[in-house]
Amino acid sequence: MQNTGLAGLSRKESEVFLRLDSGRLPKHIAIIMDGNGRWAKRRHLPRIAGHRRGADSVRDVVQTAARIKIPWLTLFAFSVENLKRRPKVETDFLMALLRRYLKQEVPMLNDFNVRLNFIGRTHELPQTVQARMAWALEQTGKNTGTLMTIALNYGARTELVDCFQSILATASRNGGLSHLEIDEEMIARNLYTGSLPDPDLVIRTSGEMRLSNFLLWQLAYAEIYVTQTLWPDFDGTHFLEAIGEYQKRERRYGGLNESSAHA
Ligand code: FPP
Repeated sequence: MQNTGLAGLSRKESEVFLRLDSGRLPKHIAIIMDGNGRWAKRRHLPRIAGHRRGADSVRDVVQTAARIKIPWLTLFAFSVENLKRRPKVETDFLMALLRRYLKQEVPMLNDFNVRLNFIGRTHELPQTVQARMAWALEQTGKNTGTLMTIALNYGARTELVDCFQSILATASRNGGLSHLEIDEEMIARNLYTGSLPDPDLVIRTSGEMRLSNFLLWQLAYAEIYVTQTLWPDFDGTHFLEAIGEYQKRERRYGGLNESSAHA
């Protein structure tokens, strides 16, 4: 990318960024990265070619997010269902791609002051992948910019199951269930995303109007932005355009807007 614009943004990105209200950027953006397979199919390539290009889009988007100082970026990489239901040759490739991605990209993540984080049942992933993840966490652990969370072997329903089990385990260690009082704050704290605020904006690429078991609790009030662009074609400019759409929305959290409140 040519970095001729603002804060290292490309010229095209700068044009979109200048139209944004920089005081009202979303703090936490979640992305359902979809369409790698379709991208490859349209080009008569194997699906894995789409995943490979998808990893390039991850790099582009995280750099743009870091440049405009988005504090939290959460990416849905592999669901519990992806790992169970896809052919082994594809899931093996995805695991190898992740291992390679982490090794190659850690220096770039450090240059951009990005700290990595993972959510999901990551203990079920192959040992070699877990070892690389632990290494990448350690290598980026001191960075203070964007926190990039990658959801791996993630499902929102399994997250809720794990959350309730963790609440029960803590309660039984602390004298039993009779004093247990569950409230929303306790549930939020025991989710994998315990220390993160809820996303303000969720982006889904490739046109499907679904949440696909992603952050179901945390997305309760998020603005949803769906684009037809397939993930391998999605870049920093598309990311900024999604933020532009977000800024056109009015967030009410179940309340009233200004004019209705005084009517
Ligand atoms: C969805 O496309 C994508 C995936 C299941 C894998 C996501 C992986 C990447 C974006 C690349 C690697 C990620 C990291 C973090 C290095 P799909 O295969 O479901 O596409 P389709 O719906 O068109 O078949």
